[in-house]
Amino acid sequence: MTKKTIIAGNWKMNKTNAETKELIQALVPLVKDAKCEVVCCVPFTDIVTARKAARGSNIKIGAQNVHWAEKGAFTGEISAEMLKELKVQYVLTGHSERRQYFGETDETVNLRTKAALNAGLKVIVCVGELLSEREAGKTAEVVTRQTIGALKDISKQELKRVVIAYEPVWAIGTGKTATAQDANDTIKIIRKVVRKLYGRASANSIRIQYGGSMNPKNASELMAMKEIDGGLIGGASLKPEDFAKVVNY
Ligand code: 13P
Repeated sequence: MTKKTIIAGNWKMNKTNAETKELIQALVPLVKDAKCEVVCCVPFTDIVTARKAARGSNIKIGAQNVHWAEKGAFTGEISAEMLKELKVQYVLTGHSERRQYFGETDETVNLRTKAALNAGLKVIVCVGELLSEREAGKTAEVVTRQTIGALKDISKQELKRVVIAYEPVWAIGTGKTATAQDANDTIKIIRKVVRKLYGRASANSIRIQYGGSMNPKNASELMAMKEIDGGLIGGASLKPEDFAKVVNY
């Protein structure tokens, strides 16, 4: 079975509705012949606009977070059912900005991931070490812990709807990219964890992306690596030309 690579944009807290319409409309023709799966993870408030603008194209729309409860007193949160109703296909969980600024833990990342899978969504689960952890030689330990934590109680069948994004935190928004070799090596470690948990076939078929200052200049080198099955793009996903260049690497 061949797996399709996946390039996803994470817009973070950027773009109004008007800007969303403009960006997606500009992107549609630029990525129409893409060989990979193309996803834009947009702010909640942009989902409907993005989907309308992407209608009939190969661009899929994703969200950036999801709560684990079906409903209830969780001010400011959004449920998986709410996303489903808007025909969102993907959702990010465990992004390092959520972990760093909003107290997200391996446990809450797991809860959010499970809720999204239960609702039938596909999930891009993010893992990655801090600079201090890398410098302390703890990269393998951290991504192993995060991967095991995120995938707790997720079945082999559900895993088919999971993509893992390896994003070294020190490479996010800094212009510093992990070397293609470093990214490849760490993704190999993550894949080994998946193999231990789910067996060889699942480990081979799961898609693991690299993220962190990926852009039109470095995309082909990163995507040429054996273990790298896609990219999660922040800054460069906000400009249609740049994102399209990464998609068409
Ligand atoms: P940058 O591409 O801006 O470094 O962001 C990466 C990222 O965090 C994607 O989720």
